[in-house]
Amino acid sequence: MAKMWAGRTDGNTDAVADDFNSSAAFDGRMYRQDIKGSIAHAAMLADRGIISESDADALICGLYEILKDLEDGRLAVDTSCEDVHMFVEQELTARIGDIGKKLHTARSRNDQVALDMRMYLMDEAAHISDKLKTLIAVLCDKAEENANTIMPGYTHLQRAQPIVFGHHLMAYAMMLLRDVSRLTDWRARTNSSPIGCCALAGTTYDTDRRMEASLLGFSDICLNSLDGVSDRDFCIELLSSLSIIMMHLSRFSEEIILWSSWEFKFIELSDAYTTGSSIMPQKKNSDMAELVRGKCGRVYGELMSMLTVMKGLPLAYNKDMQEDKEGVFDALDTVNKCLDVFTPMIATMTVLENNMKKAAQEGFINATDLADWLTAEKGVPFRTAYKLAGRCVARCIKLGTVLEKLPLEEYKAVSVEFSEELYGAIDLDTCVKRRSSEGGTSPDSVIAQIKYVREKL
Ligand code: ARG
Repeated sequence: MAKMWAGRTDGNTDAVADDFNSSAAFDGRMYRQDIKGSIAHAAMLADRGIISESDADALICGLYEILKDLEDGRLAVDTSCEDVHMFVEQELTARIGDIGKKLHTARSRNDQVALDMRMYLMDEAAHISDKLKTLIAVLCDKAEENANTIMPGYTHLQRAQPIVFGHHLMAYAMMLLRDVSRLTDWRARTNSSPIGCCALAGTTYDTDRRMEASLLGFSDICLNSLDGVSDRDFCIELLSSLSIIMMHLSRFSEEIILWSSWEFKFIELSDAYTTGSSIMPQKKNSDMAELVRGKCGRVYGELMSMLTVMKGLPLAYNKDMQEDKEGVFDALDTVNKCLDVFTPMIATMTVLENNMKKAAQEGFINATDLADWLTAEKGVPFRTAYKLAGRCVARCIKLGTVLEKLPLEEYKAVSVEFSEELYGAIDLDTCVKRRSSEGGTSPDSVIAQIKYVREKL
C-alpha cells in the first residue's frame, strides 16, 4: 500500500525495507498515550480556531471509539503500519473520512513520538515506584520481626561484627527508598511536553502549547523546539535509574543465594520460589534470585545501547532514535517481572535464627567489643587494646575455642587488665544493643529506621 507520506516519492517501498522500518510491533503498546495526545491536540486546534468545533468533535469521538475498541480487544494495532501514530491516523480516517486528515495539522510524528514516550514512561515508572514501595513495606515488616535476630555482619565476606538481621534488611530498604526518590526526581524533569515543537522548528499556526500540555497533565513545556524533538535524556536517565534498581536487587539476590546455601543456611526460601535439579535429588536452587541477578546485566546493556545510539546524533530528529523503544520497554518489563517475583520471595522466606546466631558465635566478631571494653573500662589506649584482643583471638584459635569461652586465666596471661566483667561486654546481645549510635545496629536503632521508612512511604 502507498504510504500516507507518498507525494515526493511514490511511497511504494520495498517489503523488506518496510518491515525493517516499522516500529508498530513494539510502539503499539503506546496506543493509549498516542490517542490521548491526539484528543488533546484536536481540542487545542479547535480552541485556537485552526479547525472547526464540529471537526474537532468528529476527531475526538472517532479517537475515543478507537481507544475503546483497542481496550476491549475488538481492534488490534496493525503491525504492518509504519508505527502506532500512522496506525491511529489511518484507522481514524478509515472511520470518519477526510476530517481524519486534519488531525495532523501543526504537529509532526517527531514531537508526537517524543510526547507518547514521555507519557508512557511516566505511567510505567509510577507502577515501578508502587512495586518498590510494596517491597520496602515487606522489608520493614521482616526487619521488625528480626530486630533482635543476631547474625554476623561481614566485610570482605569475612565475619566482622555482630549485627541484627533487621539491620541488614533495612540497608536494602534505604537503597530502594532512594530508588523511589530517583524516579520522583526523574519525573519532575520528564514532565515537560514536547508537543508543538513539530518537526523541529515550531509552527506557523497560532497554537497553544501550554493548553495542550495542561490537558495532558504536564507541568511545563519543552522550551526549545529542537531540543524538544531530539532529547532522549529522559530515556537514558530512566534506564540509569532502572539499572541502579537492578544493581540493588542483584546484590540482594547474591546474598539470598549465599544465605540459602548449605555453607550459610541463614534462610530457607519457600518452595514456591525455588527449583530442583533434573539430576541431583538433594538440590533446592534459588533460581529466582539468580535470574534477578542475571537480568541486571540485561538492563545495564539497555542503558549502554541507548547512550551509544544517542552519541554523535546531529540535531534534530534522526531515525536512529526509534531504537529508544525496545530497550527502554525491555528494561521496564524486566524490572517489573523481577519485582513481581522478588517481593513475594522475600515475604515468604524463613529466617533460620539459630544458624545465624551460631555463625555469629563462631567468628570472633566480638573482638572489637573486647578491645573497646579495655579502652573504655580500663583506660588502655585503643591501639594497644586492639593488639591485646588480637592475641586473645590467636589464643582461642590455638585452643579451639571462642572469646566467650576462653578462661579468665588465659585472658590474664595476655594482660593483667582483663577481669571477669569482660564476659558481659562481649556477650553478643550486649554487643548489638550497645551499638546504639544513630543508624547503628542496636534493636532500638533498627526500630527507629523502620519508623522513618514507614513514614516516608
Ligand atoms: N516511529 C518513529 C520513531 O519511533 C516515529 C517518528 C518518525 N518520524 C520521522 N520523521 N520519520 O521514532
